[in-house]
Amino acid sequence: MSKQRAKLVVGNWKMHGRLAENATLLQAVAHGAGELPADVRVGVCVPSPYLAQSQSLLEGSRVVWGVQDVSAFTHGAYTGEVAAPMVVDFGATLAIVGHSERRAYHRESAELVAVKTQRALEAGLTPIVCVGETLEEREAGLTEQVVGTQLDEVLAKLSVQEAARLVVAYEPVWAIGTGKSASSEQAQAVHAFLRARLAAKGAAVADVPLLYGGSVKPENAEELFRQPDIDGGLIGGASLKDQDFLAICKAAAATSVAG
Ligand code: 13P
Repeated sequence: MSKQRAKLVVGNWKMHGRLAENATLLQAVAHGAGELPADVRVGVCVPSPYLAQSQSLLEGSRVVWGVQDVSAFTHGAYTGEVAAPMVVDFGATLAIVGHSERRAYHRESAELVAVKTQRALEAGLTPIVCVGETLEEREAGLTEQVVGTQLDEVLAKLSVQEAARLVVAYEPVWAIGTGKSASSEQAQAVHAFLRARLAAKGAAVADVPLLYGGSVKPENAEELFRQPDIDGGLIGGASLKDQDFLAICKAAAATSVAG
């Protein structure tokens, strides 16, 4: 029988939001999250300029916050970069690293993603390390090779204790923003593969939260979250609408131990 782990739902706002609309969204999410069972955790990863706003509106709520990227450097002459300790100054606890949009549009290598993961861990953040294959790679039968290599590059740089502090998100590139989610069977198969890879690093790493991301919506969330190795979701578009995001959190609650 599979082990029951707590559920985690994280919104990735990407480059969306303005002060006024954020306030409405953050307040609604904070309020809705307060009604979820204790074993469902909720987070939002916002554009860096809105960290202070997130801190002021979410502090004391059940919702944690963070960023969508961190610099590979701690400080210095790196114009435009945001260092992990800076986001910690605003109460952030999460940092997405290696999102496919950064790998594709900013040419982030697996090596760079691994270094960013280290910087996030050193600052005390929980890195959400994203892995995922393109449609061409899936059709060529390369899914496990691609996601396995992406994960291994990160794990190789970490101790077992550090690796145990990760969150890993499987986000098939072909499912992101397309409205075409992976089926629950497809997602579960990759999650089981990733779980085995994590377990091979050390027993303490086997239970890191494994999130699925890619066109998660209120309609498909529960079935995805019922899969034994899917511990929640990394939500893009649907995280910008309070009702949809909270419906996805409720789907997580319906599949949680207490739900
Ligand atoms: P969508 O939910 O919009 O497909 O985005 C998924 C994603 O990239 C989350 O990081």
